[in-house]
Order: sequence, then C-alpha cells, then structure tokens
Amino acid sequence: MTIAKKIKSSIAQSSMIRKMFEEGIFLKKKYGADKVYDFSLGNPNVEQPEEFKRELINLAAENIPLKHGYMPHAGYPETRQAIAQKINKTSALKIDADHLIMSCGAGGALNVILKALLDPGDEVIVLKPFFLEYPFYIENFAGVVKYAPTKKDFSLDIEAIAAAITDMTKAIIINSPNNPTGKVYTEKEIAELSRMLLEKGRVLGKTIYLVSDEPYAEIVFDNVTVPSLLKAYPNSIVAYSYSKTLSLPGERIGYIAVNPQIHEAGDLISALILCTRILGFVNAPALMQRIVARLQDVAVDVKVYQKKRDLLCAGLAKAGYKFEKPQGAFYLFVESPIPDDVEFVKMLLKKNILAVPGSGFGGPGYFRIAYCVDDATIVNSLEGFAQAINECT
Ligand SMILES: Cc1ncc(COP(=O)(O)O)c(C=O)c1O
Repeated sequence: MTIAKKIKSSIAQSSMIRKMFEEGIFLKKKYGADKVYDFSLGNPNVEQPEEFKRELINLAAENIPLKHGYMPHAGYPETRQAIAQKINKTSALKIDADHLIMSCGAGGALNVILKALLDPGDEVIVLKPFFLEYPFYIENFAGVVKYAPTKKDFSLDIEAIAAAITDMTKAIIINSPNNPTGKVYTEKEIAELSRMLLEKGRVLGKTIYLVSDEPYAEIVFDNVTVPSLLKAYPNSIVAYSYSKTLSLPGERIGYIAVNPQIHEAGDLISALILCTRILGFVNAPALMQRIVARLQDVAVDVKVYQKKRDLLCAGLAKAGYKFEKPQGAFYLFVESPIPDDVEFVKMLLKKNILAVPGSGFGGPGYFRIAYCVDDATIVNSLEGFAQAINECT
C-alpha cells in the first residue's frame, strides 16, 4: 500500500464533509450556485474589517528590513507584546510577551500544544459533540482520545468529565463558543470544571492541562461574555485564532497563550517554540503577525452573524425543528427529525440543501448547519427545510 494504514483509515473517517463538498460541486454545476444551499463548511463569509484592508495596504508600502524574512520561532516580540497587553486588559491577567507563541491558526496551535504535551499513550479528553479534527490532532502524537458527553443542552457535564479521567489523562480540550453547537460555557461551569480538574490532579498526583480552543472567542451574541480560561484555571493553555475574528482563515494566523501559573511554564514555552519549528511551521506568517499587532481592538461585525442566526432559527423553529439557540460561533446543531441523521441529511440533499450529519462530530441524531453564508441562501433554503421535515411525519 502506498499510503500509511493510519492515514487510509483517517481518510475513510473524514469522508462525510468531503462527500458533502463533492456533492455541492456536482449540484452547483447541475442547478446553478444560487439554487444550491451549501451549509457544509465553516468558511466565514463576513467581510474583513476596513482597518484590515487599510493596514494591509500600508504594510505593503512600508520599508521594513527583512519584512518577509525568518524571525524568532515564537514570532515578532512587538506582536506578542500587543497581544499580551490586550489579554491583560480584558482579563486582568499578568501575561507577558514571553508567554505567547504565534501560530498558524488554532489548528497549528493545537498541533504544537499536543506535540509539546503528549507522550505515546497519554489520554486527552474530548467533549461530544466535537470539532472533527481533534481526534486526528491527538493521534498525530500517539495520544489516545477519551470522549466525554455534554448535557442535553450541550453544557458541561462535570461528572461525566470526571469519570473519563484516568491516571493517563494529560489534557482536556474545550471549545467555547463551540463548533458544532454554538454553546458558550458559563463562568459557573468553568469554575466547576476548574475545581474538579484541580481536585482530580491532586488525588492523582499529576497536572491535567486544560487546552482552550478559542477561534470563536469574539463571535458571540446577545451580550454573552466568554469567561477567561486563563483566569479560571492555572494549568490552562489557549489556542487562539484570527480566522474568524478578522475573517482570515486562509492566512493562517493565531497564537498560543501559556498560563504563567503553570509549573515549569518556561520549559513548556521552550517546548512549544521547538515544536513550532520541528513541525515545519517555523513561524506564523510574517505579514499577518504585523497586521494583527495593529488590530488588537478590531473584529468583524458580529451583528451580521447574529442576524443570520436569527433568520435561520426563526425559519427552522417555524418549520418544527428542535435545537438549542446558539450563543456564539456560526453553527446550528439541529435535532434530526428521524433518528438516522445521515439519512436525513440525504433527504435535505434532495432539496439541494447541504448540511453535515451530527455523527461526524460524535453527535448522532443531529445535523450541523454552518450559517456563515449569504442571507439569501438562508431565506431561500427554508422552504426545502420545511418540505424535508414534513416528509418525515
Ligand atoms: C473548533 C475549531 N477549532 C479550530 C479550528 C481551526 O481554525 P484555524 O483556522 O484557526 O486553524 C476551527 C475551524 O473551523 C474550529 O471550528
């Protein structure tokens, strides 16, 4: 066999979204792009802020020595300084530039973190439903994925997480606002999680790291606030991304923030820097680092996503669908009207609607709608959604 067995099985496991993507291309060719309602991919469609466009032009014109050159693997000190200031201002923390390592988005950050933390066989807890790359990322470094459920409303089930912890547990990944559910964990839930992890760590005589995957930190609605994990739990590491904050997923820019309270934080930071290098990232993209340093107080217009959420939720509720109204990100995780979510997604496909079965996210019986699409796509899809649910009853 040409390719590694592990990758062959990973291709098979990740085929659901790929299949949707291929179906989408086929349907758009057949019926025209405006007659196909593609909710399969979380590709932000809100425009980059004007400040981003302006700074990109400024930067291109500026004469900076070695503008496109290599740099320290952790990234430009002035960028990390600007981010540290922002974190300290918003969370009343004392992070300095040395606690930050620039990354190629949250995906790059998570791989660097897991490489730095995991010995073969170490366990990482993942909460269901989950971002479908987590198991691949963990297995990249011979880690073992341990799943724990969330509650019916997708809030944290502290007891279930506690039950998943063993003496091999190295870390837990949490993601809030969440993909695929849009859930934002409350300060109370985070405090309970923190208490439980500290207690478990004490009993087991080890540190359990909390890896907080935060690409949607700024995409929140209805004045909901996202509690700071760095503040809540001493052994926390944040994977942040500008992919959604500034609508830049193709530019691959984010950072890792290490809680200064972590025991031997200096060793961890050295490991993260080395892992950035030896995973082949070398450093995060240079121009984007300079830009985000200048745009710490800028984000896309979140109201645009909120309007899309409201349009979609109102339309689907009217048609009889059941779901938890998302508080952030740009996904809706909807109960499938029939138990077999894959079958229901096929029914939606017949209405030219592309969604992703919840099974792919460890959430069978649901399907995911990524509503980072034109308002017209949402509005024009509603009739198809209504027809599909009516055909189930
Ligand atoms: C939960 C979650 N984590 C990480 C990522 C990766 O984002 P990035 O583009 O920053 O690598 C995504 C992207 O959709 C995501 O939804």
